Amino acid sequence: MPQSKKNEIHRETCVCPMSIPLIGDKAPAFEAETTKGLLRFPEDYQGRWVILFSHPADFTPVCTTEFIMFANLLEEFRQMNAELIGLSVDSLSSHIAWLYAIEQEVKFKGHKNVKIDFPLIADLSTHIAKKYGMLHPNASTTKAVRAVFFIDPEGIIRTILYYPASTGRNFSEMKRILSSLQLTDMYGVSTPADWCPGDDVIVPNPSTLEEAAAAHNRNAQSTEVWFLSLEPMPTEAPQKENKKKRSGCKKGKK
Ligand code: BEZ
Repeated sequence: MPQSKKNEIHRETCVCPMSIPLIGDKAPAFEAETTKGLLRFPEDYQGRWVILFSHPADFTPVCTTEFIMFANLLEEFRQMNAELIGLSVDSLSSHIAWLYAIEQEVKFKGHKNVKIDFPLIADLSTHIAKKYGMLHPNASTTKAVRAVFFIDPEGIIRTILYYPASTGRNFSEMKRILSSLQLTDMYGVSTPADWCPGDDVIVPNPSTLEEAAAAHNRNAQSTEVWFLSLEPMPTEAPQKENKKKRSGCKKGKK
């Protein structure tokens, strides 16, 4: 049997020994050694959003560009009550040497001498990577994929992103997702395709015949239908202040 066929069978039948937490699940608790000392999750992050992400390996080019972007956006995430935590299957000394080199020497997209002021977990045992399903055996058994977990202040996983090693993450999208999650939590609305902060939002569908008729009448003059009603984004939303800076969307994009 050709090797390619064998690989296919393996892919189909591989029973992965790790769990992958899903959206809506409680984020697994852990204690970890990091570049900022011992970290306890969730205890150290009470009341805050957490963006927990993994990268495949230290001293690799795509990861280096990502760390410059994470460092550059850290303050914006903090203004949105979110903290960053990185992870890879590398040692603490490797992390320290790599982050020091990035801070001292690397320039990307005009950003230089960035301060990497968030913890990076040294998960050599793969203990945490396995808890979070960051190792995808058919991609690599030793390196984490580029995973991103958005965890809310109650410790619930709200969004999961996975990228392969060859594709650097989109930082505008990460900010946009956090903006949407916070807005929709606060106002009970939803955000449509390609939404950016400041754009109209979707209000809940009618739950009675009367509400449906009212929505129908309201939308009679527009192209909307009773099961899709858009309204201006709530003006009290915290995302509205400093909108351009926080938006996660390109200036002028609507
Ligand atoms: C990178 O960050 O460039 C990279 C890491 C692991 C595999 C391939 C690329």
